[in-house]
Amino acid sequence: MDYGLTRNLQIRSLLKIIYILPTVAYGQLLPLKETKYEEHVVKGVRDRSVLLPCGDAASPMVVFWSFTKLGSDIPRAVAISNGVESKVERGSGVLGNVTLDNSTLEIENLKTAAEGRFLCQAMYGEEDEIKVVYFYIELIVLVPVSKPFLQMNNSTPVEGMPVVMTCTVKEGTPPVTYSWQRYTNRDGTVSVAETVEGLLNLTSSNRTQMGWYTCTTQNEVNSQTSDRMYLDVIYGPDEPVISVEPFAVNQHGFSANEQEEVILTCLASSNPPSHYIWFYNSSQVYSGQKYVITRISRTQTGIYTCLAQNMHLNTRTQTAIILTVYYLPKGKPSCTPLPATNFQDLALRCSWQGGFPPVRLRWLKSRWGGNSTATYSNATQIHHGKDVRNGTSYICLASHPALRDETICRTTVWVPGGNPICSAVATKQNEFLMLTCDWAGGEPRVTLWWRDWKDHVLGGLKQSHNIFVMKSNATLGGKEFTCVAAHPLLTRATECRVRLGKQMRTVPLGWGHSSGA
Ligand SMILES: *[C@@H]1O[C@H](CO)[C@@H](O)[C@H](O)[C@H]1NC(C)=O
Ligand SMILES: *[C@@H]1O[C@H](CO)[C@@H](O)[C@H](O)[C@H]1NC(C)=O
Ligand SMILES: *[C@@H]1O[C@H](CO)[C@@H](O)[C@H](O)[C@H]1NC(C)=O
Ligand SMILES: *[C@@H]1O[C@H](CO)[C@@H](O)[C@H](O)[C@H]1NC(C)=O
Ligand SMILES: *[C@@H]1O[C@H](CO)[C@@H](O)[C@H](O)[C@H]1NC(C)=O
Repeated sequence: MDYGLTRNLQIRSLLKIIYILPTVAYGQLLPLKETKYEEHVVKGVRDRSVLLPCGDAASPMVVFWSFTKLGSDIPRAVAISNGVESKVERGSGVLGNVTLDNSTLEIENLKTAAEGRFLCQAMYGEEDEIKVVYFYIELIVLVPVSKPFLQMNNSTPVEGMPVVMTCTVKEGTPPVTYSWQRYTNRDGTVSVAETVEGLLNLTSSNRTQMGWYTCTTQNEVNSQTSDRMYLDVIYGPDEPVISVEPFAVNQHGFSANEQEEVILTCLASSNPPSHYIWFYNSSQVYSGQKYVITRISRTQTGIYTCLAQNMHLNTRTQTAIILTVYYLPKGKPSCTPLPATNFQDLALRCSWQGGFPPVRLRWLKSRWGGNSTATYSNATQIHHGKDVRNGTSYICLASHPALRDETICRTTVWVPGGNPICSAVATKQNEFLMLTCDWAGGEPRVTLWWRDWKDHVLGGLKQSHNIFVMKSNATLGGKEFTCVAAHPLLTRATECRVRLGKQMRTVPLGWGHSSGA
């Protein structure tokens, strides 16, 4: 606003009027109706604008604003208005951009220097009377908090060490409160603490406290958050944990089957992450977290040790496991029925030797009807021959950790029908006598042996086919030889006989018949 000289003079005189106004009123120039005093507190924010109203009445005849700064008692003129025009004192610039609109003082771009006491004196004319208002305003200029600055005395502590975080603000009207946040991918942002001073004391830093930290300051005007800062707690390695895939355990540790791909994984929590080394028995075999053995062999049974190292702290931990590699014996299980207890019993023998651990074998049908107990490598079951029907099948079941599918062997026990066939033949002009006994078939096969007329066994026991050759002489003429056939499924031994001719010239055909043994 540009005021001309005359206007300036007018305002000067107005100022005078106002200063002497009460006196004038008392001097009966005009009747003084009433004088009002009011006091208010107004809060403004620095750099923003504030309105200081002079009460609620509008359109005074004269308005005069003055200001007494904090700690002083000398009032300074700020602005004045005669109801038509207004003027702002030049020196008011220290308060901000001051304008006077009717009776209301507006300060834009408020300065902290504006903190203090404002007085509005207004004079209203009402029905030939004068009303004077004294309106006091205590202006408090609030300063917003500035963006805080976060610091850590140690942003890479070793777990257990103390950490002090400091949050500083350049300015801001007190009281300023401080709140602390931590951000991690896992948990998002979590509130850590609220403090009155800008200090956060972690007496013993802990891996759970790692993350991006921010501090937020707040006062009654605003709140501001600092840039984030990472707290990196150095720790570990913890005791490693070894896992084995595929997973199989025994009483000593882990087991794997030969030819399988075995993956050994070691995990030891550490910051920075562990560096891993694998040992087999006591030699280093691999460096890395995951040790893959593509086709494990039985010779790789042993102790596997994982060593975890924190290269930053130069600390290490280790764990070992025992890995046993299982393997099957070669071939297949075999099922063999055998005569036992002088051909009265039938011994079922199941066998599959070798492998580790030994194969468990079990005959499915027991003598008592239920399942029999399992044994390793061999399983034998005895049946009374007379209880076994011709053509009965028996199954032996093999089980082993390395066997994916059930493996069995089967045997069907039977005895051939009919009788043994005997014959005697003289050779080389009666020099030798050959006794032949045949009875093929059966499971187990039929056992045959020759007996002479004195009940002496000639030669050995043979299966299915027994030939006995002896030097012949005249004394053998007319003698009888018996072939005995035995099998657990035969309740009685079966025989066939041959009787030699008197002169040993002709040998009659053998003839067989059943008779009690
Ligand atoms: C100032 O007074 C005039 C006349 O009474 C009125 O028209 C105007 O609205 C007032 N201004 C404000 C900001 O109150
Ligand atoms: C880390 O802090 C958590 C929670 O306060 C506590 O359960 C854990 O035991 C601490 N760990 C260490 C190593 O101090
Ligand atoms: C490794 O150690 C195990 C158990 O002590 C042993 O049986 C195996 O023979 C060792 N292997 C080698 C290659 O030394
Ligand atoms: C036993 O069974 C087999 C075949 O199943 C048969 O050939 C044989 O003659 C039978 N034996 C008897 C003594 O019945
Ligand atoms: C004739 O053979 C039988 C049986 O081998 C024998 O016991 C006997 O001594 C033999 N006799 C003569 C005279 O060689």
